[in-house]
Parts: sequence; structure tokens; C-alpha cells
Amino acid sequence: MYKIAYLENKIKESLASLGYDTPSVTINPSSRPELGDYQYNGIMPLAKKYQQNPIELANSLVSLINEYPEISESNVAGPGFINLKFSDAFLIDFMNESNKDININYNQDINKTIFLDYGGPNVAKILHVGHLRSANIGEALKRLCETIGCTTISDVHLGDWGRPMGMVILEIKTRYPDLPYFKDNYHGEEVAFNLTNDDLLELYPIATTKAKEDAKIMEEARQINYELQNKHPGYYALWQKIVEASLKEIKEIYEDLNVSFDLWEGESDNFQYMDEMFDYLYSKNIIEESEGAKVITVREENDKIEIPPLILVKSNGAVSYEATDLAALWERTHKYNPDEIWYMTDKRQVLHFTQVFRASTKSGITNPDLKLVFNGFGTMNGPDGKPFKTRDGGTMPLKNLVSMVTQECLKRLNENITENREKIAKDIAIAAIKYADLLPYRTTDYNFDIEKFTDLNGKTGTYLLYSTIRMKSLLNKSQELNIKEYNLTTINTDIERKIILAMLDLKRIIKRSYENCSLNEICEYLYKITSYYNNFYADNHILTEENKEIQTSRLTLTKIIYDNNCKLLNILGINIPEKM
Ligand code: ARG
Repeated sequence: MYKIAYLENKIKESLASLGYDTPSVTINPSSRPELGDYQYNGIMPLAKKYQQNPIELANSLVSLINEYPEISESNVAGPGFINLKFSDAFLIDFMNESNKDININYNQDINKTIFLDYGGPNVAKILHVGHLRSANIGEALKRLCETIGCTTISDVHLGDWGRPMGMVILEIKTRYPDLPYFKDNYHGEEVAFNLTNDDLLELYPIATTKAKEDAKIMEEARQINYELQNKHPGYYALWQKIVEASLKEIKEIYEDLNVSFDLWEGESDNFQYMDEMFDYLYSKNIIEESEGAKVITVREENDKIEIPPLILVKSNGAVSYEATDLAALWERTHKYNPDEIWYMTDKRQVLHFTQVFRASTKSGITNPDLKLVFNGFGTMNGPDGKPFKTRDGGTMPLKNLVSMVTQECLKRLNENITENREKIAKDIAIAAIKYADLLPYRTTDYNFDIEKFTDLNGKTGTYLLYSTIRMKSLLNKSQELNIKEYNLTTINTDIERKIILAMLDLKRIIKRSYENCSLNEICEYLYKITSYYNNFYADNHILTEENKEIQTSRLTLTKIIYDNNCKLLNILGINIPEKM
């Protein structure tokens, strides 16, 4: 059993033996470490419930706690706070258990099936810096959920459907009217038409501008889109080619970012369920007509702000983004039946998801015990705090950002490394980007600062990689010492104790990260425990330590911190290069 839970239970039993019944006891790291390692703050409410003097109650509990072998000292502070200082034996035991199985610090006995919707790139459009956080946060949350014991299903949710597709096809048709796709006798044969992602990036803005500026072109694009959605053979085959060209590049970038998905579904897949869903919604009598549009009312009595009706079909006949997300919910519950569905997009989409979630529950597309969660995130801005742009004022492609940071890391890479310099620099760059991206609380905006994010001596991914690789190299060297069994038997310095206490607190950090759907605490924690370890490393002998018991204990400590760093970096989606 996890040590803290064990102690909490023991305190609960002691309270029961004194005649006080409490549903659960929680102890937490002390806010004043000079007074104790942990504290229990439950006495005051308990004393109130039993109409007792809190100090007296606390004193009787403390006299029992002081008999525990796990506790070296316990006392009462202020109006009835209880301070707890752990015995070395307790901490040593905990470390040896962690050494046997590091997972005891992660598992949370939560075994839900969680469906995660993140990434959200759009076909034929640039994958830009605005997509970075969805990929990073989504991927890390997925890994976190799996680590604590959940089953996950991840879906990239491509924006691959809708009028822009009609516009792009029209632009291709205008340029290459003789392509077989546009002939009446076309029936799906392979066409030797080479279309790259770069072609699409050039086409897309032109196609959309033309349509916006000319009503006739817009009407034509609408018609093409309509036929595409009804599987016109030529448009459909060309559309598949467009998706394929886009996906090739999108997949490469996600691979660079260590981001992966179980499902590569898109809005086009959800669209197949549209008719079925509309039939259902009509049968529920929930669709209203409003100014030519089809809507669902989603306002609720206690709303503090006005929540407008969800528009399913616009007055011009176009099926909305909201309807697509409802169809996605229809598909996801029918196919996968998860316990929760999480969405990771820019926090500015909050109204959209509020409307969708409400319409979904209200109409019964999803039942009320399916938890729909919107994990909106803040914006990454450019170094000046304004939207991140390229030098010529365009949107910054994600690919360019990665290569910019890679160049910076390459510049700083140790000259002694002669092989795989590019690959190592890229690993470091990804670590720098991801750590900086996951460090602020999820909803907080931040500014991109390449110097700061890649600084070897800062709160950075670079620092964490460097330190972790150094731990590994120390462990490798220790193999020459022929230590039979890694075991921790003694704690010799305050800093070692501090590291162990930090380790003991991990499970709580993991739980909070899961509850907040944010990685910031894990990032802060990694920095804290790594800096403690580095202080320890700087001030103490390990490989040259003469006392074998101390040496083995310190190596065991190193091994646990190393394993833990690897695991946490992995949750963040960060790879550790061999050297740097
Ligand atoms: N493609 C959308 C965008 O670029 C994001 C999709 C988010 N997911 C969703 N289920 N709506 O804004």
C-alpha cells in the first residue's frame, strides 16, 4: 500500500480508538518545513463536530502518533494543526518500495475510458503555431491518463470537410480544367496528378480570397462542396488526393513532436452520421426554425451570460461546425462508449463547446453520465507578446518553429559530440519547446522566448535533459563497482532527505495534474526534484565515496530519481537523447 495512504489510515484508526469518527484523513506536505515534513489539518472541523477543545483533541492524537515507528516526532501547532516528521526507517522503506516498482507513485486506481480529441489540424491549410498546444497538451494528458491506469482513445479530428474544400477543388479545376476528375465519364480511376502540401498551401489562400470577393465563385464552390458531400466521383477522388497530400506533412510534424493518435478521423467521418443524427433530433422534437436557420435552444436558467441557441444548419443551408461536433459525439458514443470525452482546443472555443455539450445532453445524443470536458488552453504569443508571426508578417508554420529552435540548439551543442548532431539538436529542441509549452497552467497565455527556453541553466527542457543524461552516465559508470543489490539503507544529508520527501509527494502531484488536466505541476515538480538532485550531486561523493553503504544508498537514490525523471519526461512527450 502507498505509504501516505497507509499513514492516513493509521491516523484515522487512532482517532477512532479515541472515539472520533471521520470519513477520511488527508495529510499534506507541510507549508512550514521547519516544523515538520507533513501536516494534518483535520482536527479543527472534527473538534467542532464533537464539540471538543481542538488543542486537547490534537494532543491526545499526537500522543498516539508519537508511538508510530513511521513518525520520529509529532506535535501540535497553533489552534490544532498537527505536524509530522517522518522517521528515516519510513522514508527508507518507501524508497526501497519505489525502487522495486516506481509505478506505486503514479497509479491512482482510476480506470476510466477517456476519449481525447486534440490536434485538430485542417486539411490544405498550414499547421501553424496555434496548433502546437493542442498537440502537446493532448498528447501529455493522454500519456498521463494511461500512466494512472485509464484506457485512452485519441483522435486527431481533422478539419477535412466543408466549404473550403469546395473552394480548393474549384481553384484546381480553374487551373487544370482538363483533369479527368472533372469529366462526366470519370469513375474513380487513378489519376497521374501530382499534388503536394506546398501546392495546397499556395492554393488555399488564393481559393478562399477569390470566393470571398466574388459571389459567383462562392456559389460555384458551394455547389462543388455540395456534390462532394454527395460523393461526386471526381470531386471525391480529388478530395482524397488533397487529404493525402496534407496528411503526409501533418504526420511528419506530429512525429517530430512525439505526438500520435489511435484514430485519424476527420469531420468527413462524422458527416456520415449526420442524417441518422438529424432523424434522431427531429424525432425528439428539439430542432427549431429561427430566421431560416435550424437551431437548438441551449440556454439554462442559471446562466450568468447569454448562451445563444446552437445553430445546426445556417440560413444558407450550410451544416455548421456545431452540427459536425454533435455528429462526432453521436459517432463516438455509438462506437466507443467512453466514460469521458476531453477536448483540447484554444480556450476561445469555450462557447462552441458549451453549446455542443448542452445540446448533446439535452437531446440525449449522449447520456448524462458521459462526462464531456472542455480543456481550453491559453495562447502562445510571439516574443513581443503579440500573435506569433514570421518575419514577413505571416502565420508562423509549426515546422519553421521547430527548425528555428533546432538551429539554436545545434549552435549550443557540445563540440565533442560529432555524430548525429542534427538528430540530437532536434530532440533537445523538442524538449525545450514542449517543456516551455506545458510549464504554464493550461489556461495561461505565454510568450515564446527562444533564448530562455533553450537555456541550459534555466527552468527548461534543456536543463532537465542534461541533468537526466548525467544521472544515467553516473549509473553507467557505477556498473564497474559491481554492486550486487541496489538498496537504500541510510540517509546521510539533509538534501538526500529533501529529495526523498519530494519523491514521496509525487503521487499527489500526479493526481492534481489529472484533476486539473494541466501539466504545469508536473513540470514544476520535475524542475524541483532535478535541482535538488543536482545540489546533492555537486556537494557529495558518489562514485568515490568510500563507505560502501553510503555509496550504495546514494546510487539507489540516483537510480530512482533517474527512473522517475524518465517516466515524467515521457508523460510530457519528451525523448531523452543518448548524450548531449
Ligand atoms: N479544426 C479545428 C480548428 O482548427 C479544431 C478542432 C477541434 N476539435 C473539435 N472537435 N472541434 O479550430
